[in-house]
Amino acid sequence: MKNYKKLIIVVIFTLIVIKISFLLTNQKNIVTISGIKKNDYFIQYECSQNDLCGGWADRVKAIMSTYAFSLLTNRKFLIKITKNCDFNKILVPNEIDWNYKNLKDFKISDKKVLSYRWNFEYNEIFRKEKDLYSEYINTSLIVIKAGFMFSDPFAENVFLKSKIEKLGYNQSNFKIVYLLHEWYKKLFKLNDKMNKEYEIFIKKLKPNLNTKIICTQVRIGDPGSQAELDKKVTYQFWNFIKDNFLDKKNDSTEYAIYVTSDRENVKLEAKNFFLNYQVFYLEKSSQHIDVGTDCQSTENVILDFHIMQNCDIGVVSHSGFGILGLWNRPRPFSNLFVYTNKNQSDLRKSYWNRRDMFFKKYTNLDDIFFT
Ligand SMILES: *[C@@H]1O[C@H](CO)[C@@H](O)[C@H](O)[C@H]1NC(C)=O
Ligand SMILES: *[C@@H]1O[C@H](CO)[C@@H](O)[C@H](O)[C@H]1NC(C)=O
Ligand SMILES: *[C@@H]1O[C@H](CO)[C@@H](O)[C@H](O)[C@H]1NC(C)=O
Ligand SMILES: *[C@@H]1O[C@H](CO)[C@@H](O)[C@H](O)[C@H]1NC(C)=O
Repeated sequence: MKNYKKLIIVVIFTLIVIKISFLLTNQKNIVTISGIKKNDYFIQYECSQNDLCGGWADRVKAIMSTYAFSLLTNRKFLIKITKNCDFNKILVPNEIDWNYKNLKDFKISDKKVLSYRWNFEYNEIFRKEKDLYSEYINTSLIVIKAGFMFSDPFAENVFLKSKIEKLGYNQSNFKIVYLLHEWYKKLFKLNDKMNKEYEIFIKKLKPNLNTKIICTQVRIGDPGSQAELDKKVTYQFWNFIKDNFLDKKNDSTEYAIYVTSDRENVKLEAKNFFLNYQVFYLEKSSQHIDVGTDCQSTENVILDFHIMQNCDIGVVSHSGFGILGLWNRPRPFSNLFVYTNKNQSDLRKSYWNRRDMFFKKYTNLDDIFFT
């Protein structure tokens, strides 16, 4: 009888140990969702010297979408950005080791490059695809080159419902806007040197919890391009901030203003406009990183992007960098205003057709045309 009780205790104890060790193991490593064995299969976001990759926002969109594919197809996720500046020198892997250099430890038997670029027709395909990448089941490395949120249609793909739920996500929220803050943190850390700069900067920007940060991003547009806005547009931004926040403030609200722009002089203009407020900005962060030629300007662009996680209010251009910077907060749509066309159908017809613009409160994905 005694032995019998002992046996029960031992069995229960063993079961607990097994359960704990199961919980401690990264579950995603054991569950094989699409039936392929992990670790020998990879998916890599790539931006090499001769690729047209877009700016940081385009890259973030495609990186996050590729990460979504990696989860759904059970492939190990890698990032390779070597255009102009080796990205590994700026951002380092956090919880997920995406360094493409890890690949050298594996024998890659078969590689497939998929160039989605800005071909939005893939949205329709991924909304209906039954079995993602089943045609590449034996391909050890899939390389993705793209610049948009091609994984967002998964939120509406009926065939992916159970896979997405198995991963622990609510399917209707399986969209970059809701996943960005969590995933960006999971993937990226600033390098040590930049992280020190970041921390010093944030202490100045937000000296205490009562300080509310108003962030503004003014994208004038590439010089000479169709999208280039009138230089006077900046005053609409400054006046919007003044009329809606500063003039309405009471004694208990403290504001600091953070400015980023694709033109350096815009930042200085803000400093001269908001004379009674602390105005902050990073110098030399205005470069479009697809044309930049060194790591320093890319570092500043990415530092800008990290700083925007701290914004309480966002007043931004209809531009990927501003919008994604503000989405990268725990509540992506909180106090977010986008300078955009009153008539969004105009923009759908031609994305660079900017006219009859105003500040739209962005509270819902459908409010503006953004892909
Ligand atoms: C993958 O490899 C297996 C085994 O060699 C083969 O039976 C199958 O047809 C292959 N599938 C594809 C899509 O190539
Ligand atoms: C998923 O999220 C939507 C929108 O937030 C919500 O309405 C729905 O109830 C959620 N579904 C589940 C199963 O939690
Ligand atoms: C004053 O500011 C506080 C903090 O921002 C806010 O909660 C309160 O509603 C404001 N009061 C008025 C009258 O605007
Ligand atoms: C918005 O733009 C579309 C296409 O450019 C046009 O057909 C439509 O009449 C416009 N709507 C309004 C309210 O002006």
